[in-house]
Amino acid sequence: MSAAALAGPSSRREFDFAPADHQAISRIVYETLGILLPDGKAQLVYGRVAPRVRACGLNSVAAYLKVIEDDEEERSRMLDALTTNHTSFFRESHHFDDFVERMWPTLAQRLSGGGRVRLWSAACSSGEEPYTWLMAALGAEKATAQRLLKGDFRLLATDVSPSVLDTARAGQYSADTLRTVPARLRATWVSDRLVIDPLLRDAVSFRPLNLLGPWPMKGRFDAICCRNVMIYFDEPTKAKLQSRLADHLETGGMLYIGHSERLSPDVAKRFECVGRTAYLKVRA
Ligand SMILES: C[S@@+](CC[C@H](N)C(=O)[O-])C[C@H]1O[C@@H](n2cnc3c(N)ncnc32)[C@H](O)[C@@H]1O
Repeated sequence: MSAAALAGPSSRREFDFAPADHQAISRIVYETLGILLPDGKAQLVYGRVAPRVRACGLNSVAAYLKVIEDDEEERSRMLDALTTNHTSFFRESHHFDDFVERMWPTLAQRLSGGGRVRLWSAACSSGEEPYTWLMAALGAEKATAQRLLKGDFRLLATDVSPSVLDTARAGQYSADTLRTVPARLRATWVSDRLVIDPLLRDAVSFRPLNLLGPWPMKGRFDAICCRNVMIYFDEPTKAKLQSRLADHLETGGMLYIGHSERLSPDVAKRFECVGRTAYLKVRA
């Protein structure tokens, strides 16, 4: 179905939204974030951009497109609105089970011996993924967790959307959002006000990062979660991103990707698939 057909009669919309407007927005989003917004997403794009058009006091998407030509901040707000941030605690929890069994005993031992451990949640959304990762690894033993986190440990959690990073840093979630956290872990790591324990919040560095742009990180990671973001990218973008992720991972480290994502053939040569969408890096 074409964008024109999906756009529907303009009388049903608060703002004019022509197929050319959809195409212009799609182009900006693709060039900046790598996210594909084909014709079939016209309704979604309108639904997310319309509140921005209203907030700017304009009466058409075309007028809004003119504004974002010069207004960098508004352009960022539009990009933020167009990211899909769906996530949950213990989503695809088999990855955390794998990490706890395969990697954590060695990494915890390394930390106890004064060594360095680095994890990266790439495209972390509102923080459920990195907090899950920590809770799964540390379990409900707060004293042991305290000892380990005093060591040279860092979980880097990045996303391109500033609004989700604000939520992640605050670490406060609704009871409904927290319902997938096992009771034993919730009792240890979530306060009565439904805030994640400061020990966990301080162990995570939340940073803005566009996966398509330059990466400032120098050292390699012991494990990377990059889940449910590549689904929005085309094949060349996925292949390039996966190759960069592989470069930033230690040999012997793990890469976890989303359930509907696959490694491109060239990148797959550097990994052994050891579980469902769980890849062990075997070649530099
Ligand atoms: C569907 S969420 C996935 C969150 C989490 N990884 C999970 O699996 O539950 C996708 C996230 O990717 C982020 N994202 C999209 N394009 C990005 C890009 N180019 N660079 C960094 N993050 C991006 C979005 O802001 C969003 O928070």
